[in-house]
Amino acid sequence: MNLRRETGREVVEETLSFLEETPEAPDTGVCPPALYLDPIQRRARNSALQVGGQHCYHEKDGAYTGEISPWMLKDIGCEWVIVGHSERRHVFDETGEDFAPKLKAAFEAGLNVIYCTGETADERNRGETEQILSQQLEEVVPGQWPEDRELIIGYEPVWAIGTGESATPDQAQQAHAFIRDWFREFRSESIAESLRIQYGGSVKPYNVADILAGPDVDGALVGSASLEPGTFTSLLENSITS
Ligand code: PGA
Repeated sequence: MNLRRETGREVVEETLSFLEETPEAPDTGVCPPALYLDPIQRRARNSALQVGGQHCYHEKDGAYTGEISPWMLKDIGCEWVIVGHSERRHVFDETGEDFAPKLKAAFEAGLNVIYCTGETADERNRGETEQILSQQLEEVVPGQWPEDRELIIGYEPVWAIGTGESATPDQAQQAHAFIRDWFREFRSESIAESLRIQYGGSVKPYNVADILAGPDVDGALVGSASLEPGTFTSLLENSITS
């Protein structure tokens, strides 16, 4: 969610009303830019809407001007933080070496984490999707984490983010099944079974139901379709029937 304040407020108000009127609505959260987190978090308090940061640094305290620690996110009431979003990898050149300590710090601070994975178009064309996903999981997912914290894996193929070209439901399901199998093999059966894996990349009101139909697709990470009042709630509504 990267909105100006007024539009952000509108989207949040609409979402809050939708959630209040729709008990069967899916678990819903928003991750606004850091600047708007505090007012949105305060507005969403005591509602079903969860709030998270888009990014964090791994140190608790210290002189890191411009950075936000997961403890600060927790301090204002956030429950979630995204680690490893594609733009952090591909625009800001962060790697698994950056993400692993962030993820650990986020758990220590008491946050839940959405850790994003996904291949570029070139990697997919070279048949390297599974290799890339394994690598991204291996270098960042810890052996264990606190039982009362949740790790969600985001599968966000880079070529599908912000392009309008979503992965097909089959492509999404295939990657998600691979990710679940990775957890089964390298972590545990019970983690694999309870793991929520969300697909992101051009999820829109018109394709959300088809994408969520995959048995291993447990949710969606939504970018541009959350930027317009009306569109995000349509997407939420259409996800219910799936
Ligand atoms: P998109 O963005 O829905 O616009 O493709 C997804 C994301 O930024 O995670």
